Amino acid sequence: MKRKKMLVTGGSGFIGGNFVQYIVNKYPEYDIYNLDLLTYAGDLTKHKDIEVKDNYLFVKGDIADRESIMSLFEKEKFDFVVHFAAESHVDRSITDPGVFVQTNVVGTQTLLDASRHVGITKFVHVSTDEVYGELDFDPTTFFTENTPLQPNSPYSASKASSDFLVRAYHETYGLPVNITRCSNNYGPFHFPEKLIPLTISRVLNEEKVPVYGDGKNIRDWLHVIDHCSAIDLVLHKGQVGEVYNVGGHNEKTNLEVVKSIINILGKSENLIEFVEDRLGHDKRYAIDPTKLEQLGWEPTYKFETGIAQTIQWYIDNKDWWEQIISGEYKEYFDKQYNGKDQKIKH
Ligand code: NAD
Ligand code: TYD
Repeated sequence: MKRKKMLVTGGSGFIGGNFVQYIVNKYPEYDIYNLDLLTYAGDLTKHKDIEVKDNYLFVKGDIADRESIMSLFEKEKFDFVVHFAAESHVDRSITDPGVFVQTNVVGTQTLLDASRHVGITKFVHVSTDEVYGELDFDPTTFFTENTPLQPNSPYSASKASSDFLVRAYHETYGLPVNITRCSNNYGPFHFPEKLIPLTISRVLNEEKVPVYGDGKNIRDWLHVIDHCSAIDLVLHKGQVGEVYNVGGHNEKTNLEVVKSIINILGKSENLIEFVEDRLGHDKRYAIDPTKLEQLGWEPTYKFETGIAQTIQWYIDNKDWWEQIISGEYKEYFDKQYNGKDQKIKH
C-alpha cells in the first residue's frame, strides 16, 4: 500500500514540535515532513530523538515563498497538511504587526493554493481561541464555534484572517479543511517569552517576574499533548468544513498561574513585579469543548499535574532554555521590559 505523506508546517516550534514527535512515533506508516523557516521561535535540537527515524524529514523553508511551496507540493503530493507555522506572540505583534500578516495570512493562503493544486485529502488549520476576542469575567460564558470572530490584537486579527481564508477555500473550491481553535497551551519546549515558561525560567534564576496590569486576566490552560491528540482526532475523524474548539476547562488568573509556579518551586512571592499593562489586553478566554468531546476527545492532564511536570521538565532541560535566553532573546527581553516603556521596574 502507498505510504501517506503528511506535511507539518512550523514543526520546529512549541506545539508543532510536540505534534511532530507525537505523530512520528504514533504513525510509523506515515512519512512526516516538517517544513519550518527556523525563525527565532524554531529550533532543531528538540528533534534529535526522531531525526534518526526513517519516517521523518526536515525541510527548511518559508510558507509564504510561493515558488518553493508550489514546487515542494508538486514534488511530494502530500495527502495531509497540518498547519502550525505562524508568528505567535501577541506582544511582538503589537510592536511589529507586518510580519504577522506576511506569515499568518499570506503564508496560509500560499499553502491553501498549493494544497488545492495537488488535491490533498485534509488540511487542518491550527488556530486559536483569541480570534473570538475576549469574554468578560462571568464564569458561565464560553467561546463556542458559533461565537463571532472579534479579534483584538494584530496577532489574533492575522489568525482570524487566515481562518476566513481557510473557510473560503472550502466554500469556494471544496478544499477539505478543518479549523481548530485552542486555548493557551503549556508544556515542554515552550519558548520562554510566553507567560508560563518565562515565569518558570525567571523563578529558577531568582529573577523578577513581570505581571501585566493587576494580574487578574484569565486564560484557559491546556497541556500541549492534549492539544496534539485533539488535532490528531480532527485530522482523522473531523467532519470536513467544520471548526472544533479545543480546551480543558482550566481557567486561571495570571496571578494564580505565577503564584502556583513560585510555590511549587518554594520561592518567594516577592519575585512578582506588577508592570504596565499590555495594550488592548484581552480580559478572559474560556473554551466550550463540547463539539470536540462529542467527536471522542478528552484531555488527560489536570492543570495541577501538568504544571508540576512542566516545571520538572524545565529543571531537567535547563540547557535548552538557557541557550535561548542568553542569545538574541536577551535583546528582545531588554527591549520589551527594560526599554523606554520601562515595563519592568528594578
Ligand atoms: P511558535 O512560535 O512556538 O512556533 C512557530 C513555528 O513556526 C516556529 O518553529 C517558526 O520557526 C515557524 N515559522 C514562523 N514563520 C514561518 C514561516 N514564514 N515559514 C515557515 N515556518 C515559520 O508557535 P506555537 O506556540 O507552537 O503555535 C503554533 C500554532 O498554534 C500557531 O499557529 C498558533 O497560532 C497556534 N496556537 C498557539 C497556542 C499557544 O498557546 N501557543 C494556542 C492556540 C493556537
Ligand atoms: P502569553 O503567554 O503571551 O499568551 P497570550 O497573550 O497569547 O494569552 O500571555 C498569557 C497571559 O499572561 C496574558 O494575559 C498576558 C500575561 N503576561 C504577563 O502578565 N506577563 C508577561 O511577561 C507575559 C509574557 C504575559
